[in-house]
Formats: sequence, C-alpha cells, structure tokens
Amino acid sequence: MQPSSTSPTAGLRQDSGAGSPADAVVVGGGVIGLVTAWRAAQRGMSTTLVDPEPGGGAARVAAGMLAAVTELHYGEEALLGLNLESAARYPDFTAELEEASGQEIGYRACGTLAAALDADDRADLRELHALQQRCGLDSQWLTGRECRRLEPMLAPSVRGGLRVDGDHQVDPRRLVTALLLACERAGVTFRRSAAVRVTVTGDRATGVTLDDGTSVEAGQTVLALGSYASRLEGMPPELVPPVRPVKGQVLRLRMPPSAYGPFLSRTVRAVVRGGHIYLVPRANGELVIGATSEEMGWDTTVTAGGVYELLRDAHELVPGLTELPLTETCAGLRPASPDNAPLLGPTALPGLHLATGHYRNGVLLTPVTGDVMGELLATGELPEPAFPFIPGRFAQPSTQRPLPGSPAGSEPQEQSA
Ligand code: GLY
Repeated sequence: MQPSSTSPTAGLRQDSGAGSPADAVVVGGGVIGLVTAWRAAQRGMSTTLVDPEPGGGAARVAAGMLAAVTELHYGEEALLGLNLESAARYPDFTAELEEASGQEIGYRACGTLAAALDADDRADLRELHALQQRCGLDSQWLTGRECRRLEPMLAPSVRGGLRVDGDHQVDPRRLVTALLLACERAGVTFRRSAAVRVTVTGDRATGVTLDDGTSVEAGQTVLALGSYASRLEGMPPELVPPVRPVKGQVLRLRMPPSAYGPFLSRTVRAVVRGGHIYLVPRANGELVIGATSEEMGWDTTVTAGGVYELLRDAHELVPGLTELPLTETCAGLRPASPDNAPLLGPTALPGLHLATGHYRNGVLLTPVTGDVMGELLATGELPEPAFPFIPGRFAQPSTQRPLPGSPAGSEPQEQSA
C-alpha cells in the first residue's frame, strides 16, 4: 500500500524559469519549506519554492503529534523551549492558516496518555514524570485503573501512565494542503524541479541550479530539504549540514463509529521492548500508528518486519485494534541532526540560510520555524527563539566566520546531547 496518490499540487502557479531574481528561493516543499515560503511572501517578498513534488516529504507520513511534553528527553532542554514555543503558537497559527487557505488542518486539543505495560516501562515513565516536573511541565501520574477509565480500550495489563493534557495533534496531510494553498494565495511561485547545486557568485549564495539545467536566482536562498540538505552540491564543505535520514514506518487503520464513545479519545503512546509506539486517533476515524526508528540511509521500503513490530506492540497496548481495517502503510525519513534539534538561520555564506534537521518535531515546529525564517528573510535579523539553533553550532572553530543577521556573540553553541 502507498500513501494517497492524490496530488495536492494541481493548479499551483508554475514558473518556467525566465524572469528577474526573486527576493527569496526556498528549496524544499515539505512543511518547513512551505511555511517559510508562505511567511516570506506574506512579508511582501517575491518568493520561489523549488521542489519536484511540493507537498511531499516526511509530513505525508507523519502522525502529527504535537508532543513537546511526552517526547521530552534528558539533555534537550533548549529544544524543549522551542517545542513549547511552537506548541503555544499552534492555535493562532491554525486560525490564520485556515483563514488564509480556506482549509481545516485537523488541529485537535485532545491531550495524550503515555502508558506503561510492565515494571520497567513504569520505572521509565516515572523518570520522565520527574524530569517533566523539574522542567515545570504539566503532567499527571495515573494508576492503571485510572488510565483505563480514561481510555477503556487499553489493555488490562497497563500498570500506570502519564496524562499530559497539553500535548495535542494536527493532521499533517491537511496541514500540507493548507500551506500549499496559502502559499499560492500569497503569491509564491512554484518551480517543479529538483535543485542540484547551490549557486555561489563571488562571496555569496545567489540561488540554485536545477536538474533541468536552468537556475533560480534569488537574493536569499533557504535550504529546507530535510535530510537531502546534506546532498546538495556547491556547498562549502564546512557548511554542509550534518543531517542524516532516520526511517520511520507508519500504519493507518480505520476506527468504527461507535454509539458507546470513541475507540480512543486522545493520543496513546508507550515504550514497548525499547521501541516507541503511538496511536493517534483523528476526528475523521483514521487511526495512525507509528513509528519505527531505523538508521537505513535513504531506504523508504515498508517491510514486513516493520509492520509486524508496530502491530505487535500496538496490539499489546490496545488489543482491540486488530479488528480494524488496515488502510495504509508508508515510510518516511526524519531529518536528524547530531543534537536532535533543528538548524535554523543564516550560514557563514552570505545569502544562504538553513531550515532543516527538525528530526521528530517537524510538524510541531512548523509555526515557530515559519515565524523565525520569515523574520530573518524580511529583516536580516534572526529572532531570539532561534538563537540556540544557528547552523554554526556544528562548525569547527577554525572554519567559523561571523554570521550575517545572527545575534551578537554567536559563538558555537555546545551541543545539548
Ligand atoms: N515524533 C514522532 C516520530 O518521529 O516518530
């Protein structure tokens, strides 16, 4: 089975390649590229987005959890701050995007329950709870019985859990469709080709060369290519972003309408045999189950083993789901950086910016990424929430040059993990 084949891009304004340089070219048409292009165009910039298939990418696979609190990890406090910032922006972002596009994006303030199936899981969850409390986050410990009262489809073996009422969800496919329409309405021009090379003229980036041999010239170039950001030619070697693909396989099932209440009313997740499993129920009856986490390079094959593991672990958590129709399997690539946090902002090559490396949080970080990249492109100033995430934090000291538009004192930051 494949992801939906319906193209979300029919009817978008296309550009043939002729014309004067754009103010900005955004390379990559996933959620991060789309939101960046939308925000730039809203600021009055002539903006071109380059992607052979805009609206594709990891968000077509992602479950859309907005899980700043339940996906907290030791050593990632800076990322937590950005995640919380973006989560807080989601309600206004949703209202603005739905207004701009005329499309609903499936934002659901439904909360999350992280459940423990055995004593080891319970100990791990207790540690997560303690970390959340130290970080001042809102979460509540529940007994197994309290978990089942909240979600009656949970297995009798659930021994306890964490109720996190602030971790919500959005439908990433609807988000993509809405962003495409918002870009179109804001005047973004689409080039349906693959970028192969960053163009450098003198000492600055001046756009990209495409696989058809033509170029897009622009005053500012943003690489929002996810894992592919590391494959573009023409980058000074020290500026190649250290972003690698981490494969995730995901299933989609269909929940029945029920007179006795929803199959699941909130996102339910657990760690089973060391692997993370989550079940994300949508208002439209879709149940998304994810995800494997595999270091397999560029491979996006859906495997029998991946599907088996997801169903086995999900079944342990919610036994009744094996009765549900399985409607889709798919796999995508998370763009992971060495510290699991994104690379946001200018590089040492004038005119070249990065918005990549969002790893597990691309959908969550869409609002704040759009805001900071839009501000950077329009004013030359990088907003404060992005300071810890400048691309230069991974540069060797000997190769570091002053960053245009970055905050004063933009020394290499210590990696947080
Ligand atoms: N944030 C969920 C995942 O990456 O699987």
